[in-house]
Amino acid sequence: MKIGIIGAGFIARAVTAVAMKSGHQVMVSNSRGPETLFSLTGSTGCKAGTPAEAAAFGDLVVVAIPLKAYQAIPEAELVGKIVLDANNYYPDRDGHISELDRNELTSSELLARHLPKSNIVKAFNAIAAGDIEKDGRPAGAPDRRALPIASDDAAAKRIVSVFFEELGFDIVDAGPLKEGYRFQPDTPAYCVPLDGFALRAALNAVSRESA
Ligand SMILES: NC(=O)c1ccc[n+]([C@@H]2O[C@H](COP(=O)([O-])OP(=O)(O)OC[C@H]3O[C@@H](n4cnc5c(N)ncnc54)[C@H](OP(=O)(O)O)[C@@H]3O)[C@@H](O)[C@H]2O)c1
Repeated sequence: MKIGIIGAGFIARAVTAVAMKSGHQVMVSNSRGPETLFSLTGSTGCKAGTPAEAAAFGDLVVVAIPLKAYQAIPEAELVGKIVLDANNYYPDRDGHISELDRNELTSSELLARHLPKSNIVKAFNAIAAGDIEKDGRPAGAPDRRALPIASDDAAAKRIVSVFFEELGFDIVDAGPLKEGYRFQPDTPAYCVPLDGFALRAALNAVSRESA
């Protein structure tokens, strides 16, 4: 598959490494322009482009930028596409977003509102960037890690689950995007290596009020 990535930081670089190792083509992007990514393209063999070019390139498009920049994500090129939303909300970094502070929306619902014609899958949120390359294991390995996803689109979840299987992770479906709070920062599932059984329990332990 072709994987477009909006972002070129820690998460983007880790996803680039594992996706290319699994045989996918990758295009990364940032706000400063593809010419600023020559060291990444040179060391990995991935492509670089603008965010719009990466969005147009990808069969799957990963968004991995500071959440505060979500409105800069191109809309037209993402119509009908599966968008994996790795973003998390950190008010100290992103500034306060009142709907998130009031628990009226999850951060991925905010992105879904910006991209109403895309299929958003909340993914890569609850694993530290450094673990993406380190923790993948073959199917059936006793220490295989599970990662949570959430989406309103069942077909998109199936495709993303296959992608994660290839990268060496089991998937636990946390439900629709509105349930994404269950693996946001400061929850028991956040960036803790867990198998599927333990991850399911960690997701179920969180309520909207406690998240
Ligand atoms: N790091 C982790 O372990 C981790 C784990 C789970 C989830 N997350 C979440 O994933 C997201 C990315 O994290 P990260 O650690 O990869 O961040 P990072 O290392 O700070 O990288 C952010 C990237 O986004 C780019 N960017 C910023 N504004 C942009 C825009 N408007 N358009 C396109 N690209 C833009 C930046 O490049 P330019 O400044 O050059 O544009 C940079 O390449 C965050 O929301 C974070 O909370 C991170």
